[in-house]
Amino acid sequence: MLKAAIAVLVSGGGTNLQALIDAQESGGNPDGEIVLVISNNPGAYALERAKKAGIETCVIDKKQCASQAEFESKIRAQLEEKHIDLIVLAGFMCILSADFTAAYDKRIINVHPSLIPAFCGKGYYGLKVHKAALDYGVKVTGATVHFVNEVPDGGEIIAQKAVEILPEDTPETLQRRVMETAEWIILPQAVAAVCKSIKGETT
Ligand code: GAR
Repeated sequence: MLKAAIAVLVSGGGTNLQALIDAQESGGNPDGEIVLVISNNPGAYALERAKKAGIETCVIDKKQCASQAEFESKIRAQLEEKHIDLIVLAGFMCILSADFTAAYDKRIINVHPSLIPAFCGKGYYGLKVHKAALDYGVKVTGATVHFVNEVPDGGEIIAQKAVEILPEDTPETLQRRVMETAEWIILPQAVAAVCKSIKGETT
């Protein structure tokens, strides 16, 4: 294998996808290449970011699928067609079934905007995570990159980075600081490390 083929699954703005593209373009992931971006949301700005970087995109709108099984089988068909080695969930707001995660054991990674096991699991996504941290009154939060298994946000942790909470923080200011000082750093690093180990397994 020359490089691990990466698919990035997105739902929204795609700043984590951008961090992955920037790292790749500056030589930060010599063992991997993003070859496909899949969005469940046709309006996701992440799709524009991918197109600007010359990466193939595909929309699989969950609302147009009759069931979770149909949604996932459409995703899997795309992954198989492109011979994907690693799936990165970067702001992907859909939970994947145990069937799906078992088919890609240690081949799916996710970035979550808190220090797991705090503020994670079903219902904790996007700004809700930061609102929960502020409501609880914790003084430190952060980001986690982990392998994905059948338990939402429950797979093996790959990397974490702590971020201080300031007294004047709102969910929006905290989200921005967690992205800038944690997610956009540890996600590209973790993706590069996992690609290196996948390549090592196959050569
Ligand atoms: C990021 O903060 C990501 O960690 C979070 O949503 C945001 C997506 O931003 N993901 C989750 O909450 C998943 N449980 P982005 O689209 O700009 O990367």
